[in-house]
Amino acid sequence: MQRPSILVARAVFPEVLERLRAAFDVEANQEDQVLAPAELARRLADKHGVLTTGAERIDAALLAACPRLRVVANMAVGFNNFDVDAMTAAGVQGTNTPDVLTETTADFGFALLMATARRMTEAEHFLRAGRWTQWRYDLFAGAEVHGSTLGILGMGRIGQGIARRGAHGFGMRVVYHNRSRLAPALEAQCAAQYVSKDELLAQSDHLVLVLPYSAESHHAIGPAELARMKPTATLVNIARGGIVDDAALAAALRARRIAAAGLDVFEGEPRVHPDLLAQPNVVLTPHIASATLATRRAMANKAADNLLAFFSGQPLPSPVNAPVHKKIR
Ligand code: 8YV
Repeated sequence: MQRPSILVARAVFPEVLERLRAAFDVEANQEDQVLAPAELARRLADKHGVLTTGAERIDAALLAACPRLRVVANMAVGFNNFDVDAMTAAGVQGTNTPDVLTETTADFGFALLMATARRMTEAEHFLRAGRWTQWRYDLFAGAEVHGSTLGILGMGRIGQGIARRGAHGFGMRVVYHNRSRLAPALEAQCAAQYVSKDELLAQSDHLVLVLPYSAESHHAIGPAELARMKPTATLVNIARGGIVDDAALAAALRARRIAAAGLDVFEGEPRVHPDLLAQPNVVLTPHIASATLATRRAMANKAADNLLAFFSGQPLPSPVNAPVHKKIR
């Protein structure tokens, strides 16, 4: 039997590479060069599988150039870098890494909410710049977190984790909006109340975005939505760039239309809109919500588990589509 040949598109934990090398012919990229579409297609032309991150786009053009490709295992829960319909039509299986990052990402969402509400990075920059000369009654006075209203847009596993932290850890009132309402038992566990998107925008003291990116969620927060929020509100995005209109957000922050924002993801990242960089009332982090070593290791292993299961004909841990499979050649 021919050993499947795979590409690991970005650097991963050496032990995960070893697991893959035991079963496959592996081309690695431990120098971690980001592969432009043409280079990715060139490297995948003779491969049966690939381990990707959110940075590699899998679309119809790439699939047409890679006729042997049968499976793409994303090391991410989000898979908006996949054109799922094109993959299904081409007989290519996609997989992602849900569950293993839920609590870590919810921790980070909450950390970003607190850093934003309590102006932590702005205060640190002030201190490091040697500008702290005396105590003042309103020095970096921020917004209350405990007892306030937490809004969540997108109530999947990570949204529910943030809701539990808010309700049970900080005594917050939790409201949420989602495409579908949670089952009553789950709603009760999260102590969360379902509201319309308009009510969510109007009621939230702290609004956290945790919804998947799609054509439908593109600019879900733009000028009209920002105008509906409280002027004292904070907005946190740990979901995907493109869900927020970054130019509109920067304008709203500058005009103090809302108080502050915490952003882990950006339109066109790793570039960041210059108007956001210029605003003091925004906490900026480089897409690290799932970044603990334990969680990143679990994500890499889950992507590897999907590849190993696929080529041994076992049930897949986390498929994202159901293609009619091609034969290996
Ligand atoms: C990843 C993420 O770090 O899982 C996701 O959807 O956004 C992050 O956890 C990133 O996508 C790299 O693959």
